[in-house]
Amino acid sequence: MSRHSWAEPYKIKVVEPIRMTTREERVVAAREAGYNTFLMRSEDVYIDLLTDSGTSAMSDYQWAGMMIGDEAYAGSRSFYNLVEAVHDVYGYEELVPTHQGRGAEHILSQILIKDGDYVPGNMYFTTTRFHQEHAGGTFVDVIIDEAHDPASLHPFKGNIDLDKLQRLIDEVGGDKIPYISVETNVNMAGGQPMSMANLKATYELCHQHGILVMLDATRAVENAWFIKQREAGYNDKTVAEIMREICSYSDGATVSSKKDNLVNIGGFLALRDPELAKAARALLVAFEGLHTYGGMSGRDMEALARGIREMVGTDDHVHARVGQVEYLGDALIKAGVPIIRPVGGHGVFLDAKTILPHIPHDQFPAQALTAALYIESGVRGMERGVVSAGRDKGTGDHHYPKLELVRLAIPRRVYTQAHMDVTAEAVIDLLQHPESVTGLQFTYEPESLRFFQARFEPVA
Ligand code: F0G
Repeated sequence: MSRHSWAEPYKIKVVEPIRMTTREERVVAAREAGYNTFLMRSEDVYIDLLTDSGTSAMSDYQWAGMMIGDEAYAGSRSFYNLVEAVHDVYGYEELVPTHQGRGAEHILSQILIKDGDYVPGNMYFTTTRFHQEHAGGTFVDVIIDEAHDPASLHPFKGNIDLDKLQRLIDEVGGDKIPYISVETNVNMAGGQPMSMANLKATYELCHQHGILVMLDATRAVENAWFIKQREAGYNDKTVAEIMREICSYSDGATVSSKKDNLVNIGGFLALRDPELAKAARALLVAFEGLHTYGGMSGRDMEALARGIREMVGTDDHVHARVGQVEYLGDALIKAGVPIIRPVGGHGVFLDAKTILPHIPHDQFPAQALTAALYIESGVRGMERGVVSAGRDKGTGDHHYPKLELVRLAIPRRVYTQAHMDVTAEAVIDLLQHPESVTGLQFTYEPESLRFFQARFEPVA
């Protein structure tokens, strides 16, 4: 049978009720949360698109694995299953398990970055940049300019600008750049992929200068899917084959397993060089846990090993995953809502600067729009704009990113097409009266990673 549309390659065995609230209840909940969706109770949320991180539904096969997880402190059988899964799917020899992605970023930054070093990357991720700076490094954005333009239809907006990278190398010297941090399917750019050709060229340039290439492979499967769809020569390859090739152009990777890997907690640092892995394990035992569990329980590692195999087991999985995101994105595009285009892999990103031109950038348009969408509909998104970008360490001024976005991230295998319809309707309704949304000001601003716990009030 030839198929024109995709469908989920699974049926639903367990359900979790969700609660619709009244507008009055949501007004109170938003105020009590300081207009920050990170501070809300999930019970007050109807459709939760805060993040695709740790929110996946596991399969029956993964749940079965939870029962037979080996909880030995040292040498757990589940750890060795995980080592094999990472080796088979990603191709790395050395596995350093961690409690989640930022645990791996912490260890990697500490073993490689010295005070005064530079770490280039294709746009930043919040925790990644935090750990690079915390280790004494300076992050330098070397993504292509198109990534900062919501309307650009470039098929690979995650690409590295090789001229920007070359200029940095010329300026500071390769010996001041321990590694480049290359994110697959760049989160902050709107879930945008990089091409295989660009990754390969980046790897070659870096290796000429003795610079390691470390992937943030958190959403590499989604990137592999886009390569299959968009890059010449890849249509006949499986996502599993493309994944292996992506990783072949790297010296290691940090992964938050809470995304692609289909589990609720976990992560890892994977490496090729056994000496580097030895240095990583030395820190691991102090910060995460013994080298055969990191911060995970045996059952976590068992479910993770199975999730890693499942995410590339058939291409139908990622087809349906990205297909659902595109379904929501297309509905909004059709209604004229300004979103990041092309539609990304893990969520739809509303262009708050265009939607709310009356709110000045220092009154946090994306934060305000996120709160307003919640109050209108009970749909919870996340600010990805000036609040997330934080302040410049030197001047103390806000970083003003070109992208001022509300992210509606879609959990994997959790919501139905009808939930996507309701979400699209909520956004479209809100945009009938954008002038009703007012700017926000801080009532509490944490020093670092402020977006997680900041509190706001409407500007009078
Ligand atoms: N790298 C990327 C690209 C991420 O998106 C995240 C987390 C991390 C690293 C850190 O991993 O959360 O397991 O410690 N992103 C989540 C999100 C928080 O909502 O996008 P973690």
